[in-house]
Amino acid sequence: MSDESPATRPPARTAAVIPAAGRGVRLGPGAPKALRALNGTPMLIHAIRAMAASRAVSLVIVVAPSDGAAEVKALLAEHTLPERTDYLVVPGGESRQESVKAGLDVLPPGIDTVLVHDAARPLVPVDTVDGVIEAVRAGAPAVVPALPLADTVKEVEPAATPGDPEPVVATPARARLRAVQTPQGFDRDLLVRAHETVTDNVTDDASMVEQLGLPVVVVPGHEEAFKVTRPLDLVLAEAVLARRRANDGF
Ligand code: CTP
Ligand code: MG
Repeated sequence: MSDESPATRPPARTAAVIPAAGRGVRLGPGAPKALRALNGTPMLIHAIRAMAASRAVSLVIVVAPSDGAAEVKALLAEHTLPERTDYLVVPGGESRQESVKAGLDVLPPGIDTVLVHDAARPLVPVDTVDGVIEAVRAGAPAVVPALPLADTVKEVEPAATPGDPEPVVATPARARLRAVQTPQGFDRDLLVRAHETVTDNVTDDASMVEQLGLPVVVVPGHEEAFKVTRPLDLVLAEAVLARRRANDGF
């Protein structure tokens, strides 16, 4: 945070882009993943609330399934969301990267920090969101929340046929590895440039910044920021929500 008065410097403004256009193939048949319910509320609404919970976030841009923008707009109208935050909905693309780009394309002027947050991480706590924003505002142009790994990781030569034995190529030292989460936070201009420059297929936004040769830093993530990917993750997410409800005082 800067000590300068608002008269000499306009306040930093942060937007969150939420890619929610995936099908959720690994979750199995059903509605697009972001629209599936967790304890009765769509995962996407949980994710939007998680971003809007940060007082620093003044705009949330939701990237809807390409044929689902109207449905997502209706969901936003149906659910209670903080009024101090603005909301935009745009249709997404074939890949996560294209979907994030569609969100960046509608960023209004005046936003200088951008978060990119998976709709599939509906339960990230606000302290994690704020930690990422603070690190960007403190001068790191690209910030990712991450956790140490529980499992040892092996690099293999992937088998041509799934299920066949795969030769191990290497075992990176676990203590040096981190499992990265979202929201990832960026200087706006840097993230836009990364998305305009890098065309390789990547699985997160920070790796595009790395490909530009620019530094990315890791800050502490949170267990509850896990990604809902497979059916068991739905069970875990609903258990986390039930625990929160119990702790919120019954
Ligand atoms: N996403 C997106 N547009 C795509 C693909 C993915 O906006 N074309 C979003 C997903 O909606 C999700 C996030 O990117 O919020 C992370 O992707 P992932 O967890 O892989 O979700 P899906 O692609 O939906 O799941 P799967 O890979 O199992 O199909
Ligand atoms: Mg996917």
